[in-house]
Amino acid sequence: MTEQKATNVTWHEHSVSSDDRCQLKGHKGAVLWFTGLSGSGKSTVANVVDHLLHQAGKHSFVLDGDNIRMGLNKNLGFSPEDRTENIRRIGEVAKLFASAGTITTTAFISPYREDRDKVREILDDGQFIEIFVKASLETCEARDPKGLYKKARAGEIKGFTGIDAPYEEPENAELILDSDSKDAETLAAEVMEFLESNGYFSA
Ligand code: ADX
Repeated sequence: MTEQKATNVTWHEHSVSSDDRCQLKGHKGAVLWFTGLSGSGKSTVANVVDHLLHQAGKHSFVLDGDNIRMGLNKNLGFSPEDRTENIRRIGEVAKLFASAGTITTTAFISPYREDRDKVREILDDGQFIEIFVKASLETCEARDPKGLYKKARAGEIKGFTGIDAPYEEPENAELILDSDSKDAETLAAEVMEFLESNGYFSA
């Protein structure tokens, strides 16, 4: 639990409510939280979903692991504590985006179940959609888009997720995407179908 340091601060309610924002946009704000191993396809699928949402006239945005680590979270590494803080900050940012009515996709390994559950807790009911991009370690390692598994196997990277750092699979994900056998377009279509059939596209 991150303690609040500041004292003498007061929470201000917004004068424009979330419902007002949904009415204007014609859809609900939500966080599509993609989780999975490096190389499982999180960013790729998240970006296809973002593109489809945009084409359909929805307000969407992607928060992506590597990009956020080059800015907001550039002072964080890959120790368990830093990963927890990484996810906590992203969770807070995603919450702001969702409050603004945006359908936000996030693509972070987010290896710890507890960290993901904490993000779920700070969001309103139904706003957090956990999407497990499921690919075996063998698949991810064979893809190795950034050559990092090779480095991890050679001992050049310590604490690499799936090799010598843990990944805790979701137990109650809203969606599980089979990235071993389906391509990004097919998986993105499954996400769009979930949003459609669960009423996210109505104000
Ligand atoms: S998380 O564990 O804190 O959620 P995040 O998604 O932000 O990780 O960053 C993961 C990306 O950082 C990987 O896709 C990979 O490109 C890079 N990376 C560098 N070092 C590591 C490591 N030790 N473990 C996992 N990913 C790493």
